[in-house]
Amino acid sequence: MSARLAGRRAIVTGAASGIGAAVAARLAADGARVFTADVKGAVDFVADLTGADANQNLVAAAVAAMGGVDIVVPCAGISAFHPLEGHEDAYFQRVLDINLLAVFRLVRAAVPHLKAHGAGRIVTIGSTTSTFGDEGLCAYAASKHAVLGLTKSIAAELGPFGVTATCVQPGAIDTPMTAPAFTETPAYRDFWENKAPLRRLGRAEDIADVVAFLCSDDARFVSGHGLWVDGGAMARH
Ligand SMILES: NC(=O)c1ccc[n+]([C@@H]2O[C@H](COP(=O)([O-])OP(=O)(O)OC[C@H]3O[C@@H](n4cnc5c(N)ncnc54)[C@H](O)[C@@H]3O)[C@@H](O)[C@H]2O)c1
Repeated sequence: MSARLAGRRAIVTGAASGIGAAVAARLAADGARVFTADVKGAVDFVADLTGADANQNLVAAAVAAMGGVDIVVPCAGISAFHPLEGHEDAYFQRVLDINLLAVFRLVRAAVPHLKAHGAGRIVTIGSTTSTFGDEGLCAYAASKHAVLGLTKSIAAELGPFGVTATCVQPGAIDTPMTAPAFTETPAYRDFWENKAPLRRLGRAEDIADVVAFLCSDDARFVSGHGLWVDGGAMARH
């Protein structure tokens, strides 16, 4: 494995599970120092990242541990199907709080450190629902559309400081978030496996490898961009 991220210092949230865990492992394998955060699990910083000061405290702890921050990958998020009727305000707000507001707060707190590095990297995790909607996913799709817009605006604002911001948009990935739905509803699993021309669900590593590329010097001229990583599913009618 190359050490293409040697010397880089990364914050990865949602790192106790699924995509975040795979991203943390892949960045570390590429030579980065990685400071992990989650609400649970064996991570460097345990906190509910919807807390008002949680992301600021996370960045402070990461800087204390690593001396700076060059890469930020907010993977923490939640999803569940809720029909529009009976969809409670509190759940809608909860989804926005972790999937959107926490991303904004984390990046905002990291800005001085990313600027100082001169080639900082922000890779947000959107979804194919950053581009499309779906039944039962009002809150989730709203949050993921917003994350893509947030990422584009961050790219515009921080580009002059050499910082790139990109949004990876996973398709159906087999993780602890989605496993219950795929297990309980085999037709749902079949649908997504067959919709993808590559004829399988994604794995967390499929996303992590793309995130690592976007964090590397090879992606130095890629910014303000949403990238589907979905086995081709969304390109197919
Ligand atoms: N799995 C998929 O098919 C898929 C598709 C598109 C996008 N995504 C996105 O990828 C990201 C990771 O999802 P995943 O599939 O790995 O799910 P996951 O449930 O396996 O991991 C999410 C992690 O986020 C953490 N988290 C949730 N709320 C938190 C909070 N308030 N504070 C701190 N940590 C919190 C959880 O504890 C968990 O470890 C999410 O943003 C998700 O929306 C996933």
